[in-house]
Amino acid sequence: MPESKIAERSTVQIKDAPFELSLRPTAFDDFTGQPKVKERLQILVEAASQRKDTLAHLLLIGPPGLGKTTLANILAKAMGGNLKSTSGPVIEKAGDLAGLLTTLEEGDVLFIDEIHRLQKTIEEYLYPAMEDFKLDIIIDSGPNARSVRLNLPHFTLIGATTRSGLLSSPLLSRFGVPYRLDYYTAEDLQKVILRSARIMNADIEPEGAFEIARRSRGTPRIANNLLRITREYAQVRAGNRITKDASHAALTMWGIDEDGLDEMDKRLLETLLHKFDGGPVGIGSLAVAAAEEPGTIEEVYEPFLIQEGYLRRTPQGRVATELAYKKLGLKSKKTPDLFG
Ligand SMILES: Nc1ncnc2c1ncn2[C@@H]1O[C@H](COP(=O)(O)OP(=O)(O)OP(=O)(O)O)[C@@H](O)[C@H]1O
Ligand SMILES: [Mg+2]
Repeated sequence: MPESKIAERSTVQIKDAPFELSLRPTAFDDFTGQPKVKERLQILVEAASQRKDTLAHLLLIGPPGLGKTTLANILAKAMGGNLKSTSGPVIEKAGDLAGLLTTLEEGDVLFIDEIHRLQKTIEEYLYPAMEDFKLDIIIDSGPNARSVRLNLPHFTLIGATTRSGLLSSPLLSRFGVPYRLDYYTAEDLQKVILRSARIMNADIEPEGAFEIARRSRGTPRIANNLLRITREYAQVRAGNRITKDASHAALTMWGIDEDGLDEMDKRLLETLLHKFDGGPVGIGSLAVAAAEEPGTIEEVYEPFLIQEGYLRRTPQGRVATELAYKKLGLKSKKTPDLFG
């Protein structure tokens, strides 16, 4: 999804901002939650280190803001390599990829974010690089054109994607087992918030942190952004201390409700209920009616609404659940009105 879109549309999803970088954990010890993925990755690191080998290529999958870039950084550091970052849509020509690959050193990590947006032709150059650490590039053109084979150092490719369904199967198969990140529990996010507050020198009570955590849609990035808003609020209105009441007041003022739904979530549910009678409706029509990009709805809003049980995805389109009607204080069209 175009990053500008996220930044522009949502107060809570600003990607890789300077503020976020200062809070990004740099070692497994600071990385809270995701116990399964974390343990598996730690084993890979330890095994490769013991063998003095490089880490195998790996793919991180999960909704925005759950820690894919963070983990790539942690892995590179744990392996003692450098991290070179790029992203699928940025690599336009085979030459761009060659430029990146040829600057790598043994044990470095090449991180390709949004790898599902890599062009097919570029993907094909990547396969031999991943499998045999070779790169075939064409130099010159016309009658002088010839293919040159470059040997690459043994590097690790870490791919990240929010949309594993859009990844080609040849690419997917070259990664082996994918690592899927889940939404975080409120308890884990409370720990993330307390750690961030320490870094920001913010005065916070554990209950204040929990109040932010449970409204953060299971997402550390959102938790950190809501912490920042709450800190500003507390400074001006609540004696500079983030208590439970201060968190509640701040988040309510910023339009984040008790269940963590923001104004855009509610706009989507309202559109679905009022304009489409609860669905089913196709994502394209829903997006137009709610004045939002279909991609942003699919990647940012919908996964959480589905996970929380407000929305269902059916072959006919999106359908509102009972819970969505209840949320907006409406009667479900499916529930017979027994009392007239
Ligand atoms: N497990 C964690 N513990 C503590 N903080 C975390 C954790 N995961 C993520 N964060 C915080 O959330 C921010 C966003 O994480 P990150 O940038 O890694 O997400 P992402 O999955 O790469 O998102 P996107 O898909 O948008 O690129 C980080 O800067 C970091 O501060
Ligand atoms: Mg990222």
